[in-house]
Amino acid sequence: MKVINTISDLRVFLHQARLEGKTIGLVPTMGALHEGHASLVRRSVSENDVTVVSIFLNPTQFNDLSDLERYPRTLESDCKLLDECGASVAFAPSVKEIYPEPDTRIFSYPPTDSVMEGAFRPGHFNGVCQIVSKLFSYAEPDRAYFGEKDFQQIAVIRRMVEDLGFKLTIVPCPVVREENGLAMSSRNSLLTSEERAIAPEIYAALAKSVSYSKNHSVEETLQYVVSAIDAVPGLKVQYFSIVDGRSLADVKSWDDSDFIVGCITVFCGSTPIRLIDHIKYKGEE
Ligand code: PAF
Repeated sequence: MKVINTISDLRVFLHQARLEGKTIGLVPTMGALHEGHASLVRRSVSENDVTVVSIFLNPTQFNDLSDLERYPRTLESDCKLLDECGASVAFAPSVKEIYPEPDTRIFSYPPTDSVMEGAFRPGHFNGVCQIVSKLFSYAEPDRAYFGEKDFQQIAVIRRMVEDLGFKLTIVPCPVVREENGLAMSSRNSLLTSEERAIAPEIYAALAKSVSYSKNHSVEETLQYVVSAIDAVPGLKVQYFSIVDGRSLADVKSWDDSDFIVGCITVFCGSTPIRLIDHIKYKGEE
């Protein structure tokens, strides 16, 4: 696997690949890779001739400096994992390489980017669109792979792709979970052993709420999940929303849409660490 640090070297490499008629898959990441990322890379390797994995801790999507500072950085082990997964290129540029000047572009795709994470982390999706649009322009991939763990992020990126007319396919990939149900996330490595023991209660409550929802209203299901999680000492729900799976607008009734998803963010422990998850109630398996 090649490690490339500059945009021009990446362009030269991919230009040659395209001349040879090769297809290109892009897996954008912020590093601190785990089995969830590995599943995206393996999928891209199986569907494309060339797989580029970007490793870039994008400062513009962090609205909280302490969150950025404590984000795990593990470049060496990341490259080892990518090599084992069969990636062709790890693209690991510096902040100066990507943002020689501040990026002043504004992206706005409500309600996808204004609700939930958008409301609690102002500017977050603007930063995501800034970096992802840059990566799409550099790599011009045929397909780009994103984990469904960040369910809202995929909805926002789909809107950006439509808006800017990128000619590529977004490939959403299922959440990879630990055996206890906890969604894999780079932030999990920041959890203490006590926090690791309670964090699986988030998915346990979401999973139970699917059968509960069959004979209860949307409002009752919202309350069921929030009280089950808030009852666990050390966990506190920041928000839980039951939304249309495409627009991310709130639904009031199970008949409001053919695709309904519950999206949650929970504070875990005293630091606290924000953990994100979701559950599908209806449609699009
Ligand atoms: O999902 C992530 O890790 C990031 O938001 C992404 C898509 C790599 C952009 O920095």
